[in-house]
Amino acid sequence: MSGRRGFFVVFEGLDGAGTSTQVRLLAERMRRERPDLPVAVTAEPSTGPAGSLIRQVLKGRTTAVTALGQPQPFDRRALALLFAADRLDHVACEIEPLVQAGWLVVSDRYVWSSLAYQSLDAPMEWICQVNRFAPAPDLLVVLDVPAQVGLSRVDASRPGREIFEHEETLGRVADAYRQSLATLPATRTCVLAGDRPVEDVAEGVWAAVRELIG
Ligand code: TYD
Repeated sequence: MSGRRGFFVVFEGLDGAGTSTQVRLLAERMRRERPDLPVAVTAEPSTGPAGSLIRQVLKGRTTAVTALGQPQPFDRRALALLFAADRLDHVACEIEPLVQAGWLVVSDRYVWSSLAYQSLDAPMEWICQVNRFAPAPDLLVVLDVPAQVGLSRVDASRPGREIFEHEETLGRVADAYRQSLATLPATRTCVLAGDRPVEDVAEGVWAAVRELIG
């Protein structure tokens, strides 16, 4: 390793936008065409302790119970803080050490997911505030798809839905994503239509990444 700092690239989009597919295709292409620049793929919620807890909440496997024994859903603002906590742990344990060691780190979701999804339940400025120590990525790739397209891909890919996976909710998340990009602009942003053929989207991603890494 040359001692040079690597790069941090983030993918964002609604559930079913194709971020996981495009992250995988980008990593494969990097390994083929740029073996000099090692690539690490990661995601949020992360595999760390807070991330594992979040996954349980998203699947509805952690129902809260009041002191009076009444079941109630997990508090959404507490969930927003868990996402922020997971992110700082993810940055400290995975993202920063790898970027500093010269890797290209690609994360499937980051701060803009919190701004878009958690702003359904709390003011966006508060979500910005609790995420303010999360370092900015070098490149933000946004895959833009209509809520209906995302949801039909989710339904085709696995049984059951998570707590945000409903058309009305995702429609509101789509609006909030647009607002989040205005609230917290990234240094470099590439917005691609995620309902185009997978290969076309992958070409768009590659062009943006190549421009970044030179
Ligand atoms: P997703 O990334 O789509 O992964 P999988 O397909 O494995 O379920 O699911 C994560 C869900 O968490 C998704 O609905 C978006 C949501 N989310 C937030 O609400 N806030 C966040 O900060 C992050 C990272 C994710």
